[in-house]
Amino acid sequence: MAIFRIEGPVTLNGRVRISGAKNSILPIIAASLLAEGESVFEEVPHLKDVEIMCELVESLGAKVKFSPKESRLTVDPANVENILAPYELVNKLRASFLVMGPLLAKKGQAKISLPGGCAIGSRPVDLHLKGFVAMGASIIYNHGYIEARVNRRLKGSKIYLDFPSVGATENIMMAATLAKGQTIIENAAIEPEVVDLSTYLVSMGADIRGAGTDTIKINGTDKLKGSTHTIIPDRIEAGTFMVAAAITGGDVIIENVVPSHLKPVSAKLREANIEIAEELTSIHIKAGKKIKSLDIKTHPYPGFPTDMQAQMTSLMAKATGTSMIVETIFENRFMHVNELKRMGARIKIDGRSAIIEGAMKLMGTQVKATDLRAGAALIIAALAAEGTSEIIDVEHVDRGYVSIDQKLRQLGAKIERFD
Ligand code: UD1
Repeated sequence: MAIFRIEGPVTLNGRVRISGAKNSILPIIAASLLAEGESVFEEVPHLKDVEIMCELVESLGAKVKFSPKESRLTVDPANVENILAPYELVNKLRASFLVMGPLLAKKGQAKISLPGGCAIGSRPVDLHLKGFVAMGASIIYNHGYIEARVNRRLKGSKIYLDFPSVGATENIMMAATLAKGQTIIENAAIEPEVVDLSTYLVSMGADIRGAGTDTIKINGTDKLKGSTHTIIPDRIEAGTFMVAAAITGGDVIIENVVPSHLKPVSAKLREANIEIAEELTSIHIKAGKKIKSLDIKTHPYPGFPTDMQAQMTSLMAKATGTSMIVETIFENRFMHVNELKRMGARIKIDGRSAIIEGAMKLMGTQVKATDLRAGAALIIAALAAEGTSEIIDVEHVDRGYVSIDQKLRQLGAKIERFD
């Protein structure tokens, strides 16, 4: 068990550099299986989830070399023969399901453990499977595994997603690159990570148009080559530092960001009375004393990201007035609320809404990180709380933040890690 001990309150000041996006590199590692040769990735974040994804493609037969110091990863899929993604790995990392599209397209079959129940809701994979079936695959459920097969080659098809799922869009887009004919994904997710995946696939020789809009057209090709690709900055890590700066009344420059990817977060922070100046690749946050309450509803991009909901809940606990946060993407994503209440926040949950009474004095105590973003929310609250907070189970935070304690210390936080 790892613990963060944080002394608050502090004011964050200085500069921090954001790492590559977790939600880009995970599907991109899966996509590298489609190539005939080696791919090289730059700006790869050294995260637990990246290690698990590497372990998975290695278990399939790929040769993987990760140099965390250089943030460089190479994947050579030339010897991939295995098509099984076992429970031990899929259970640890839901994104492992993203190897299904590439395996089905390249090897004609895949056997993947059904992702287990997840801390933030049931998270089904029906939309991924509906897409593969439309492309000619047959699907069998067998002893907790999903077995997908196709006779010879996947066929291009028109696929309408009932919901613009990020994972389903990515999985289907990857499968379609080696299918016969054209695939059209309608009501596709338009998240920046979908666009990053498409950019990499196109650099491998794929024919993809429209990524970043709700209609993506993919003309299948016979072969894809390995390629070199630089991962986009992590907008959720950046957003988390923006909120940390805001809650502490700080003055922080966040470097290596794409400001347009952060529009929904910046807009809400401005509404809360935080000053934000955008440069080409950085954002400057200056927070005053008074934070205003907000109403927030999570939505697919470019709406407010569900992955920033927990962090905003912490900020709203310090705002003047009552805030309401509605979570529309995942059920059961308010696990941070009970922990925040232990720190003095006043929050009521009503179904998918959280009503937060602001201007409360937060007090340090022992709390538990129940998932990745819940952990980030507790760190943010602890920075603004009086006294010592101890956050336990911060391994969850390691899944999505590169050296968050080091980066926060650099900004003046009093945070220590104990393993
Ligand atoms: C991705 C992100 C995650 C983020 C989420 C929403 C990665 C690795 N993870 O997750 O951090 O919180 O997008 O922005 O990129 N759904 C179905 N059937 C499906 C697929 C999804 O009903 O087949 C539902 C889910 O249960 C959920 C909603 O659609 O309620 C959104 O899920 P989705 O966009 O697929 O999220 P992920 O790709 O899992």
